[in-house]
Amino acid sequence: MTETKQTLKVSARILDRGDIARIRFVPEAGGPIVPFTAGAHLDLYLPELDLWRQYSLCSDPAETGFYEIGVLKDPKSRGGSLKVHETAVEGATFRVEGPRNHFPLAEEAATTVLLGGGIGITPMIAMAKRLHAIGRDFTLHYCTRSEGVTAFLDELKGCDFADRVVFHFDDQDAAQRLDLTNDLPAPSADTHLYVCGPQGFMDWVINTAEAAGHATANVHREYFSADVDLTGAGFEVECAKSGLTITVGPDDTIAKALAKAGIKIEVKCEEGVCGTCLTDVLSGEIDHRDQFLTEEEREDGDVICACCSRAKGPKLVLDI
Ligand code: FES
Repeated sequence: MTETKQTLKVSARILDRGDIARIRFVPEAGGPIVPFTAGAHLDLYLPELDLWRQYSLCSDPAETGFYEIGVLKDPKSRGGSLKVHETAVEGATFRVEGPRNHFPLAEEAATTVLLGGGIGITPMIAMAKRLHAIGRDFTLHYCTRSEGVTAFLDELKGCDFADRVVFHFDDQDAAQRLDLTNDLPAPSADTHLYVCGPQGFMDWVINTAEAAGHATANVHREYFSADVDLTGAGFEVECAKSGLTITVGPDDTIAKALAKAGIKIEVKCEEGVCGTCLTDVLSGEIDHRDQFLTEEEREDGDVICACCSRAKGPKLVLDI
């Protein structure tokens, strides 16, 4: 996959409600940004942690001057968001890959419902801007713990499509909370749902929508983190190209075990949400642990997220 690699400079930073920093980036070399489509994200490299982290773009895809992301300062995260809060000050530069889009809009849909939970609102804002620009029918549901921690509140209340935005606050009366039974439209081939947020929120929306008859392919999802169990029984991995066979221990991952043997598979999120580590599988049954592949791709069984997924049997043969 060809990847846009670039250096971006922080041009502005706004500390919004709920400990969310809205950070704007411009190309370090000046000029317009590499264009992106709604749902796209940037991969930011954090050198002090030697980590890559993905952040959805919340700016208008029609905006050519800057990118904007929203980053929650989350003490429960693995340190990436805290580091971005600490280092993304005006003038700071970052090595960036992308924009890439694993969460594209079906722009021709007759009806679109966008569901953002907490910081999962960010890709939904870009999507709403795009849908508004092309005159589509859509509703944006935004769920947060309380109004006081709702970033982008003023912008969304004052925007051109404010009448399409419905806020739901956990700490206010039940009547205004998201009620999927009533708030989702009837399933149809021309109705598309998009969900992003904490895993519990996503599971609830996806399971309820699918149980109501929405086709899996029409319930689009973007995980920004996942609770993934990386452990399991040990197994062997044969590397067809190099001829090497290694053992993946119960607490190891394929990517880490291969790295110890000198075979590097690029990883970024290390929890099965970004797809960077996708590796072709020639034989063996895969125990998929990721949130990245679709049901159809899992059934095909010819590609694995090597950062987290494992083997069901004694051996996998990879095309590396
Ligand atoms: S590194 Fe992100 S899915 Fe494996």
